Amino acid sequence: MKKTHNCGELRKANAGDQVTLSGWVNKRRDFGSLIFIDLRDREGVTQLVVNPEVSEAAAEVAKPVREEYVITITGNVNARPDDMINKDLATGEIEVEVTAFVLENRSNPMPYNADDPNTSEDTRLKYRYLDMRKSDIGQNLMLRHKLGICARNYFDENDFVEVETPILSKSTPEGARDYLVPSRVWPGEFYALPQAPQQYKQLLMVGGLERYFQIAKCFRDEDLRADRQPEFTQIDVEMSFVEQEDIFGLIEGFLARVMKNFKNIEVPLPFPRMPYKEAMDRFGNDKPDTRFGMEIQDLGEIVKDSGFGVFKNTIAAGNLVRAIKVSGHAEAASRKILSNLEDEAKKFGAKGLANLKLQNGEWKSPIVKFLGENELNAIQAKLAVEDGDLVLIVADTWEVCCEVLGRLRLKLADAIGAIPYDQFNFLWVVDFPLLAKDEESGHWAAMHHPFTAPVAEDVEKMVTDPGAVRAQAYDVIMNGCEVGGGSIRIHQPDMQQKMFNALGIDEEEAKERFGHILDALGYGAPPHGGIALGFDRLVMLLLNAPSIRDVIAFPKTASASCLMTDSPAKVDADQLDDLSLNIKVK
Ligand code: AMO
Ligand code: AMP
Repeated sequence: MKKTHNCGELRKANAGDQVTLSGWVNKRRDFGSLIFIDLRDREGVTQLVVNPEVSEAAAEVAKPVREEYVITITGNVNARPDDMINKDLATGEIEVEVTAFVLENRSNPMPYNADDPNTSEDTRLKYRYLDMRKSDIGQNLMLRHKLGICARNYFDENDFVEVETPILSKSTPEGARDYLVPSRVWPGEFYALPQAPQQYKQLLMVGGLERYFQIAKCFRDEDLRADRQPEFTQIDVEMSFVEQEDIFGLIEGFLARVMKNFKNIEVPLPFPRMPYKEAMDRFGNDKPDTRFGMEIQDLGEIVKDSGFGVFKNTIAAGNLVRAIKVSGHAEAASRKILSNLEDEAKKFGAKGLANLKLQNGEWKSPIVKFLGENELNAIQAKLAVEDGDLVLIVADTWEVCCEVLGRLRLKLADAIGAIPYDQFNFLWVVDFPLLAKDEESGHWAAMHHPFTAPVAEDVEKMVTDPGAVRAQAYDVIMNGCEVGGGSIRIHQPDMQQKMFNALGIDEEEAKERFGHILDALGYGAPPHGGIALGFDRLVMLLLNAPSIRDVIAFPKTASASCLMTDSPAKVDADQLDDLSLNIKVK
């Protein structure tokens, strides 16, 4: 018996057809002589009726069948009477009366209760294949597949060539730790798994490919979060003879098509562009969620002569006093909640978190006694404070104000229901600094990566004022999530050397680490640039999934292990010997 239909397919119009279906037993209800079975495959669920009066042989085979047994049946499609139609089920208008029944395989009882929302994620990850069968994960992977096809079609239509680049490669400076692979042939030497195909795609441009893309696996040993995995996938793109705007147009076209195909939403083009500094000032981070307001406001002018010493002294020291307004939250913000918020603010570097509440026309705050009436009025006007609102204030450096108020803005917007989760919005963040000071070492480090080109008019400052140099780098942001980032690259060897100098990488080190790039730039490298979109993140956002793990077939836990295969794992002494390795336990 070969299946004729899938389990989500049959409708009233099929009544009278003879069909064969295969799948797993989702549910089984035994009514003495009649057995009802909900049969499931990846496309849906169909109700089967096994009636010994129709086929005694089928009823005999069906008797011992339990949940998750694998079966194939043949039967006749019957329309259900109007009062028996199940509106929750796509196939709810029909049922299949079984005439032949094959038991393909038994199943052990489920090792966990799939319907219990309290089943731990670790348990589900251990039995990922069961979770895939019974939860949304399988559906998510099907959408992921469709997005991959959409990307391949789009880039193919735009004359891009998909090229695979090596997985055993050399360390790439994308900002995370490398995963290393020891070489057997070269004792003591290591390959690095690529953090991105960055150098290869630039070399493809030198190779004259002109338009490259790849759905590429990347590996980064970094602290994991809800939107980060140690191995993840990029839609990686590189183009020759282009400027920033060409890349924006290409990617906007792709994302607009994605939104149309998968959400039936017309995204207005072009996307807005926002300089990095403005994003930080207004939203406190470089991936602003602009679906709602609650923007950060500067109170410096208002409080520079404040009676509250903390404010006055902070301004006098050249730092900032900034605030956000949480509409209608004054009453809910109990002393305990405010104290928790302050603890959180301190965790992210603040020295304190001042609050003001306007309730029944009166200001309430531990610091109200230090603030003059003019000051309070000016704050009220600047933030458009209304009765019942809460204002949270941080006095600190620019960095701390951004970090703390940016985080509180997102957290509290969620708490007061200010985020329209059904909306999608996109923007480009542009004009990133080329270099950022590494706090630990005190050295300048590339904010994106060391192949990013500076804005032409800022090149002189690479020596005189490195922190002020802007990069030709950009991120594309979707609903407050960085879904992609890229840059125009340096394509001339002397400029690349200038960049290495700014990073404190001398000629010898540059030659050792990046000799291949410097060599290649010396042989007529075309001007080029590109971008990589986070493929997993894009799927996650389209599905509104809470975790990146929901859109990856076999994800790792937050501690980078796979509970299903129990990896990473120890290896035999012989294998270590082959690789000339000794394990030193710390
Ligand atoms: P970048 O490091 O910004 O750029 O990465 C591009 C995009 O990849 C996604 N991403 C991740 N997704 C899941 N888990 C992770 N650990 C993870 N890290 C990054 C993000 C990010 O925007 N070579 C450059 C691109 C270029 O310059 O062309 C690069 O890799 O969505
Ligand atoms: P204190 O004078 O330390 O008792 O602080 C009085 C109030 O000012 C408390 O609510 C503190 O949270 C707040 N506060 C102290 N330092 C700062 C700061 N740097 N920024 C914002 N609020 C602060």
